[in-house]
Amino acid sequence: MTIAYLNGEYIPLEEAKISPMDRGFLFGDGIYEVIPSYGGKTIGTALHLIRFEKGLCEIGIDTPWSRTDLKAIFDELLARNGNGNLGIYLQVTRGVTMKRNHAFPKSPTPTIFAYTFDIPEPDNGNSETVTQWQVSSGRDLRWQRCHIKSTSLLGNVLHMMEGVESGAGEILLFDAEDNLTEAAACNVFVVTKGVVRTPALDNHKLAGVTRDMALAILRRHSSIEVREETISRRDVMSADEVWLSSSTKELEPVVLIDGQSVGTGKPGPVWSAAQALFAQHRFDDFA
Ligand SMILES: Cc1ncc(COP(=O)(O)O)c(C=O)c1O
Repeated sequence: MTIAYLNGEYIPLEEAKISPMDRGFLFGDGIYEVIPSYGGKTIGTALHLIRFEKGLCEIGIDTPWSRTDLKAIFDELLARNGNGNLGIYLQVTRGVTMKRNHAFPKSPTPTIFAYTFDIPEPDNGNSETVTQWQVSSGRDLRWQRCHIKSTSLLGNVLHMMEGVESGAGEILLFDAEDNLTEAAACNVFVVTKGVVRTPALDNHKLAGVTRDMALAILRRHSSIEVREETISRRDVMSADEVWLSSSTKELEPVVLIDGQSVGTGKPGPVWSAAQALFAQHRFDDFA
């Protein structure tokens, strides 16, 4: 039985209930985070909490919870759920109002919800055991505020379904100039002639914590060249390696895009080295 946290109480997930007048339900008016943990220890905690606070600030939700309060909730939830390999889902919405009105209510009481879910043991760079992604590609049709980790995810959901319906598990998204933004639920890296590149951050991409950690780890602990810059469709389609990154995947290789092999069609050596380094340093301090 999964134990969830809802507005100050730890309760079985099945018993967690909110009002249909919650602005999260009516408008997708909220911010969320997904924080991975292994054996009761969370990863990239400070980076996740900083992004969470920034998101709340961007959409003007004031909350009473300090980082220490949130960390205490995480620890309690992990302990109550057995301290295994668990993702923590955290969401804060602008709360409940009895009149549906797009404009913010005067003094809302935010709703806070968190629960845990099982995540797989992460890979240590072994190309035999890692998930190998087959993806499709498409035009990024989401809004201009993709840097906010908002619960308004319909744009991402519809893109993910494009990927799924084409028989792939994810979709690489390209802007109007045909430059790479990200994937429906991941950031993207490409490797060409040994150089690792990922799109530079702007309002069309989420600043992934895994992306940040991977860049920091490669810069601190390897001699691999790493760049954040514009990446065209042609760069992606001719790359030696393409990787996806997210908190519950870490770095995972893409082997097929729209039916075309990436490089040799197998996880590449730079991915293997990068994920092995990630595995060594995932518990480091990145704040
Ligand atoms: C659209 C999008 N981009 C990137 C990411 C990766 O972010 P992170 O590494 O913080 O999990 C996610 C994760 O859910 C996402 O939904």
